[in-house]
Amino acid sequence: MESLQDFIMIDPSKKVSDEELQAWRAEVDRKDQEKLQQDILKNKRRYYRRDSLWGTSGEQTFSFEQWEPSMQRNVKKAHAVKEQAIALFKKLRVGDNFNIMLMGTAGNGKTALVLAIMNALQRFSHRTVMFVSVVDLRELVMHDFADYEAERKQNRVERSMREVDVLILDDFGSEAGGMNNVGSATERLQQFWFRVAEARQAKTKDGKKRFSTIITTNNKRSDLERMYNSKIVSRLVTKKPENQIVFAGLEDVRE
Ligand SMILES: Nc1ncnc2c1ncn2[C@@H]1O[C@H](COP(=O)(O)OP(=O)(O)O)[C@@H](O)[C@H]1O
Ligand SMILES: [Mg+2]
Repeated sequence: MESLQDFIMIDPSKKVSDEELQAWRAEVDRKDQEKLQQDILKNKRRYYRRDSLWGTSGEQTFSFEQWEPSMQRNVKKAHAVKEQAIALFKKLRVGDNFNIMLMGTAGNGKTALVLAIMNALQRFSHRTVMFVSVVDLRELVMHDFADYEAERKQNRVERSMREVDVLILDDFGSEAGGMNNVGSATERLQQFWFRVAEARQAKTKDGKKRFSTIITTNNKRSDLERMYNSKIVSRLVTKKPENQIVFAGLEDVRE
């Protein structure tokens, strides 16, 4: 950093006016603030990366540049879902908050496209993002009662899921098969979802949504409502058509 001495010494004969000194101080303060904000963001991102749950395939990345519309027979549709995802990313980027749903059958590219949104937010915005494979989450929450290590991890993950700007829930609905079973573990999972859903619907003082939640799912909204409590679904899953990316007409591109 520049020192006050150097600044004053540029021209010893020149007297530094109060205004100049004040302007210099303000500039130094601004730079300090900026650096501080960057350090805080870097730290937060480290935590959200640590608490992300990636499923069996481990940490994955994908970007809009890698999206190949020609992998699909319906090239036009494959192009359209990407354009819609980019448009939604641009709104998230400037701090708008709303929920997004990517809906379609297996192998359509839902996870790939949601990873592209995540990648773009990390590269081109100050917003924090966390990826949660819902199947992994179920395993984490339904751990053994005496497993304190798992308990601690669950608490960390829950806190991050409640506080991150943009929360991605990958394969929402896929873990809910046993959700209506009675039993303390299922009860715990249900309670977990309640707390997260409640936190995610928080509003700012001026009544705007504070957080965004993005889900990918193979299920219809009505299926999700049957699987989870409808309060959970209404808080996490958007009803707005413009925020739903529907993959109908696209195929399974896995080999
Ligand atoms: N349009 C595309 N361009 C490039 N790769 C794609 C595309 N669609 C899917 N893939 C790749 O195909 C595989 C299956 O896609 P995935 O996103 O996992 O599907 P889903 O989540 O809908 O089941 C992944 O490896 C993904 O990266
Ligand atoms: Mg997927």
